[in-house]
Amino acid sequence: MSKHNIQGVSTMNKKQVIESVHQRIKQFELLVHQDPFRLAYHLMPPVGLLNDPNGFIQFNGRYHLFYQWNPFATSHGAKFWGHYSSSNLVEWVEEEIALTPTDAYDRNGCYSGSAIEHNEKLYLFYTGNVKRESTRETYQCLAISSDGIQFEKKGPILHLPEGFTPHFRDPKVWKQGNTWFMVIGAQDIMEQGCVVLFSSRDLYNWNNEGVIAGSNRQGLGDHGYMWECPDLFSVDGQDVLLVSPQGMEAQGFQFNNLYQSGYFIGKLDLETKLFQHGSFQELDRGFDFYAPQTTEDSRGRRLLFAWMGITDSNEALHPTIANGWVHAMTLPRELIVKDNKLLQQPVSELTLLRKNGESYRETVVEDETIQLSGVQGAVLELELNQFQFDTKTSFTIEFRKYARLTFNAVRQEMILERKRLTGDGMEKRGTSLISLTSLHIFLDRSSIEIFVNDGEETFTARIFPDPNEERIEFASRGKVRFDLNYWELSSFG
Ligand code: FRU
Repeated sequence: MSKHNIQGVSTMNKKQVIESVHQRIKQFELLVHQDPFRLAYHLMPPVGLLNDPNGFIQFNGRYHLFYQWNPFATSHGAKFWGHYSSSNLVEWVEEEIALTPTDAYDRNGCYSGSAIEHNEKLYLFYTGNVKRESTRETYQCLAISSDGIQFEKKGPILHLPEGFTPHFRDPKVWKQGNTWFMVIGAQDIMEQGCVVLFSSRDLYNWNNEGVIAGSNRQGLGDHGYMWECPDLFSVDGQDVLLVSPQGMEAQGFQFNNLYQSGYFIGKLDLETKLFQHGSFQELDRGFDFYAPQTTEDSRGRRLLFAWMGITDSNEALHPTIANGWVHAMTLPRELIVKDNKLLQQPVSELTLLRKNGESYRETVVEDETIQLSGVQGAVLELELNQFQFDTKTSFTIEFRKYARLTFNAVRQEMILERKRLTGDGMEKRGTSLISLTSLHIFLDRSSIEIFVNDGEETFTARIFPDPNEERIEFASRGKVRFDLNYWELSSFG
């Protein structure tokens, strides 16, 4: 057994650990980079496993995105914080590792958290995870940097309060007036998922303000045994609470993945210390979307990244594992609130990726399956709009003989199907959809992201087609007419 076992990496000091991560990246470099499923314009780990986006922030004019990273295996374990930075959200540079799980309070993982700027310094708040034989400890920790690259750990600043199990993690911090606030994802001793609010004047001493929302609280029924990765912010004058609940039952099209991520629109009431909210809505309708995190940039946009993956039995089946890496981030998206609904749109900077383009006006598909000449490939963007449907139409786009998106105008629903990773037939996810006005689709070598009706719904999924299969097919029962724009996209970096 190597020194890097799942119990953590603490048998070595920080310098040795970082050195062995560098060696590991080098050792796997060729294998990783020859993988045909390596994405062209999405963030991935250089080796090993990537999960949640962390510490997303614009600092000194650059965007920084950190991520949960196990460099030593393609399974979950003692997480590091990997680090990318970018001037434009499209071209990213790999930075030095930000946090290593090498201290007593984080020896089994520097778990998820967030970043804020204070007095020209970058502050990271994260969860120190410590596992003993049969118990778990959790510490909310701080690390500070002047240059945004090298971080000095300050250790735990918040200990587990009474009333909660050690499933207490993922601090998200923000400032309102002169007060700093922090939300933490938690499980109470009744094993109900919830979000706990803390406040601070100095970022070191935190007051417990209590549970602001949770399963079986404030009229919400059973809503999971644990809430991970909370995020609370205002956008377009509305307060939004994002959260990733675990333990929800599937209901029709809803909650079909093992774990969920979604949001409540409401109001954080600082008098009652409660988040008054409406119903929970899933953020994405696809297969691979979890633990989203947002930040506000200097243009006032509320931007989101999510992990384009999920912790479930499927992840061990990803074919990239044979090549030493697994998982990726979604594209960066902008959030907008419209009619009490959160819309997600790809950030406008992504147009920088466009290369050769082609437009097809008034394309008609009627009781047939067609290809459009030139519309094919693995790394591309499609925009479809000006739709006109017969009332009886069912319209399908098939991607690389691996995934299919269908709008059924009779049933008023949209379905995404993909091949099962077990190789055993197709699996599907869907949503009801009264009308289809536009589709905006990003394909990368092993992913698809679909924005429906200007972001009213999104479908995000990993796909693993035959690398040589580049066909995009349009099929219709009944008649559909639309305009289409197509671009080949380039790789960043
Ligand atoms: C969500 C999560 C977080 C935790 C991190 C560990 O995917 O389970 O709650 O901090 O991943 O990697």
